Amino acid sequence: MNRKLILAASFCLAACSSDPSYTPYKEAQKLGGQMIPAQTLNNGRIAYMQYCRACHGEKGDGNGPAAPGLRPPPRNFTIGEFKFAGVLEGKLPRDEDLVRIVKRGLHGTAMLPWEVPDHELGEIIQYLKTLSDKWKEEDAVGKPVIAAADTWGEARKAAAVERGKKVYHGFAQCLSCHAAYATKQEIFDASKELTGNGTTDFRDQMYQPEIKETDYPLDPAKAEGPKHKVLPPDFLFSELRSIHKDTELGDIYRLLVSGVTGAAMPAWDPESMPDKTNDVWALAYYIRSLTDMKGTTAATRLRTALAAQPAFVPPAEAVPAPVTP
Ligand code: HEC
Ligand code: HEC
Repeated sequence: MNRKLILAASFCLAACSSDPSYTPYKEAQKLGGQMIPAQTLNNGRIAYMQYCRACHGEKGDGNGPAAPGLRPPPRNFTIGEFKFAGVLEGKLPRDEDLVRIVKRGLHGTAMLPWEVPDHELGEIIQYLKTLSDKWKEEDAVGKPVIAAADTWGEARKAAAVERGKKVYHGFAQCLSCHAAYATKQEIFDASKELTGNGTTDFRDQMYQPEIKETDYPLDPAKAEGPKHKVLPPDFLFSELRSIHKDTELGDIYRLLVSGVTGAAMPAWDPESMPDKTNDVWALAYYIRSLTDMKGTTAATRLRTALAAQPAFVPPAEAVPAPVTP
């Protein structure tokens, strides 16, 4: 086939495949502040139909033929909201963020690490942006999280883990959603040290994560309908979506600073931490230390020790010394 014929054939595929209401792009489109050639978008649609449609749906609304019953449900791209974009302020992801998500997959979900040839993936990602008006309305994508230098390093790893444990339980309230991994006495001491007020009020079932509602609809077609609920991961047991054994510590740093948009997992501004970026790194080291325990006897030992901890007796309020006139 000569080049013209190939072009004609691919044009027809774009125009004739499935949805008759699809009109191929004839002009470049401005999406997320970037001009995307029409041909890229039309090619992207063909590849999208091949690789992504089954779950994310023909219209990108998350309602593909394989979607019913999938938990979490496939992302509805018409909303233009992404959990693991890894950018600041819940803004739109950059191309490299979308590449990372598709290549690595989201562990423990139906979103597997898809092996799509790079040039096709690039085109799919551009096409994705046509599915939500957000990419037309927003002039720029989000700013990447730039991780400050890790001042702990391997040599001071143990100190980082210890600090991270304190920040996790005594300052950042990670345990209001995730499980606690420290005794009540340790939590009291950590919060006393970091905030001046020792915690004496503990939620029931503190050693289990607490189920949270997300912004994502259960049925992708019913944006206003009931929302998908998610159980925050238990770091000793669960599979994390964007983080696994081989991910770098910097990926955990980025996740903490960008949060999980729309899924109840807040974004942690390093400036709000007592020791700023050092504390975000410490949290990353601590999370890594917990996930490293997964499947080992160390995890069982920690659980057993927490279950067997002595009853917590809040210290008596310090009685102010009588004032002598
Ligand atoms: C077998 C089903 C399935 C297929 C096929 C599939 N996905 Fe997904 N995808 C999912 C599910 C499920 C989620 C939601 C995961 C979650 O919420 O944690 C998802 C989420 C996503 C997200 C959102 C990530 C975020 O941070 O919010 C993107 C982007 C994405 N998929 C892109 C793609 C692309 C591109 C393709 C085709 C190359 C594809 N997916 C194919 C099931 C699938
Ligand atoms: C208000 C509730 C809430 C708080 C507070 C919270 N998280 Fe989360 N976190 C979640 C939820 C919900 C998820 C799961 C999101 C999903 O998979 O859709 C999550 C996911 C995570 C993940 C896994 C991300 C992945 O790739 O799967 C990590 C790591 C994490 N949180 C760390 C922390 C740390 C550290 C803190 C404290 C600094 C914290 N979280 C505070 C709700 C919370």
